[in-house]
Amino acid sequence: MSRLILKKCSIGRSRWHWPIAGLVLLGARPALALVSFEDKAAVKKTAVKAQDDPDGSRRAFLAAYKVFMHPRCMNCHPSGDAPLQGEDSHVHGQNVKRGKDGTGKYALKCSNCHQDKHVAGENMPPGNPNWRLPSPEAPLIFQGRSPAALASQLKDPGRTGGKTLEQILHHVAEDKLVLGCWEPGEGRAKPPLSHGDFVREVQAWIEKGAHVPPP
Ligand code: HEC
Ligand code: HEC
Repeated sequence: MSRLILKKCSIGRSRWHWPIAGLVLLGARPALALVSFEDKAAVKKTAVKAQDDPDGSRRAFLAAYKVFMHPRCMNCHPSGDAPLQGEDSHVHGQNVKRGKDGTGKYALKCSNCHQDKHVAGENMPPGNPNWRLPSPEAPLIFQGRSPAALASQLKDPGRTGGKTLEQILHHVAEDKLVLGCWEPGEGRAKPPLSHGDFVREVQAWIEKGAHVPPP
């Protein structure tokens, strides 16, 4: 069984452990020799001997799945070409569309209404400097995906825009659009797990073998 060293990334620190984790995954263990003594100890402390555990892996995915499918996440990961809105994930008003890079079609850009920060008040647009949908080449659809379908999709770099599982874990741990879902703005519910618990479940899913739940 390959040994996985996945250090939970924390914002702004230790980003460079990730390439190391990647090398270790490829079996290039001597890469650890590049780590300074101090860091070696740190890596050791957080190193997890990955045990293939199909049941534990699937259980962790099912827990994380509740977050992926929550409106805060799904509203930006729709099956169609328009974002979704609200707790009932209805199609976004004003005929807003994905466009060729996810930032809106023609003059109707996301940033016309979505600012760098949330606009205060109910039913006002939430904000983030990078507010957009995934690109049409890799739309990363969550809407309508069963647990099995979503797990298979996340494991398939052909459908994640070339992202590996390690990059996906990094993304859910650090990306500002993801973090923003836990400060959703007035009138919007947070996802059902804390961000920390969500990241732990995604990490456990991967470390225990990234098994796909039964269809
Ligand atoms: C404002 C829209 C928006 C919201 C809200 C959002 N995402 Fe995304 N998500 C994106 C975009 C855009 C990408 C593509 C990122 C890229 O290519 O860099 C993406 C990519 C991803 C990916 C693929 C990994 C990657 O590196 O591209 C995952 C997994 C993901 N999002 C999970 C989530 C989860 C979980 C939530 C909720 C907690 C969430 N997203 C909320 C827009 C959003
Ligand atoms: C004409 C203004 C306008 C434009 C353009 C616009 N939005 Fe919105 N959007 C809003 C408003 C207002 C809300 C809040 C609605 C509410 O809470 O009832 C919203 C809500 C959303 C939500 C729901 C957020 C959540 O957490 O449930 C998503 C997702 C979203 N917009 C994505 C986009 C994307 C992606 C684009 C560009 C492709 C875009 N919007 C363009 C006005 C706009």
